Amino acid sequence: MIVPPISLSAHILLQPFSQSELAQDLAHCLNHIGLAGKLIAKELRTAGLGPWLGSTGTTNIQGEEVQQLDQQANNIFLQVFQGQRLVSVVVSEEMEKPRFIKGAEGTGRYAVFIDPLDGSSNVDVNGPLGSVFSIHRLAQPGYPQAEEDLRKKGHDQVAAGYLLFGPSVNLVYSAGKGVFQFTLDQELGEFYLTMAQMTIPARGRIYSANEGNSRKWAQGAQDVLRYLQEPDTQTGRPYSGRYSGCLVADVHRILLKGGLYFYPADVKNSNGKLRLMYEAAPLSFVVEQAGGMGSTGLQRINDLVPQALHDRVPLWIGSRDDVILAESYLRPKSQT
Ligand code: AHG
Ligand code: MN
Ligand code: MN
Repeated sequence: MIVPPISLSAHILLQPFSQSELAQDLAHCLNHIGLAGKLIAKELRTAGLGPWLGSTGTTNIQGEEVQQLDQQANNIFLQVFQGQRLVSVVVSEEMEKPRFIKGAEGTGRYAVFIDPLDGSSNVDVNGPLGSVFSIHRLAQPGYPQAEEDLRKKGHDQVAAGYLLFGPSVNLVYSAGKGVFQFTLDQELGEFYLTMAQMTIPARGRIYSANEGNSRKWAQGAQDVLRYLQEPDTQTGRPYSGRYSGCLVADVHRILLKGGLYFYPADVKNSNGKLRLMYEAAPLSFVVEQAGGMGSTGLQRINDLVPQALHDRVPLWIGSRDDVILAESYLRPKSQT
């Protein structure tokens, strides 16, 4: 394939809105996130050779085991935001409290939310990994006075996206004007535009879920799974099952091919597993921009007002018709 010669920085300058202050700010943020992506990719390429596989022996705020690479990816994001003055706070899956960025106390107009390394269970087995980011504009420049200032709806994101570390590295983002995919040329160290104005098929033939949990799901979620697996030539069923254990990789497949990703609530976890502010909301922002939907099963993800920075939510995301169909099974019977 001939790589189109549009780098990430050039692409941002070419956008019709590129002269606005917001676009220049976004260019700044995306370039820093791109840099973090290159640094993480470099670590991952040699992770199997070095001492970086395995656990740190500690658990994070989520009560989950922290892998050494989770910690390292988190440090890389913090390092790239040190020394700049536009992002004043970083909220991460790996840190209980927001981290204020020194030097941006009077000037930083943005908060960046990150899942620094997504799909940690793939670390030791050389499976796909990702990073997710969400960018919010602060009401006032500087450090937010209260945590509440950071608890914003997904609709308020000014940009969101993810990095996917697979056989190649992708950066996918939306700033509310379509979805763009870039691919890293590892030799040149530059992201190049490989897909513009991405759209998700209105309906797909793939589902992605951890079926090992299905007996713990509510009846509605089990019914959706049964429907997707039922043979029916007219509606193109059964759907194919594809699950990597890395949300970013699984949602990326659904974005490109269409279909449904779901991580429902279960008997033990009434809000499911995935985190609202740095997993569900940014991915829903991207998928909605591509013409799809992101739902809790009952409500649009990006309408939710977070109660806490590390809130969890059930997630049903993907092709519009597939999400609508799932919602019809999940709605309480009295509302159907
Ligand atoms: P993280 O590695 O950031 O903690 O996220 C893990 C998430 C997500 O990547 C994935 O879709 C899901 O957890 C996998 O969970 P199961 O192992 O329960 O399927
Ligand atoms: Mn994750
Ligand atoms: Mn993570």
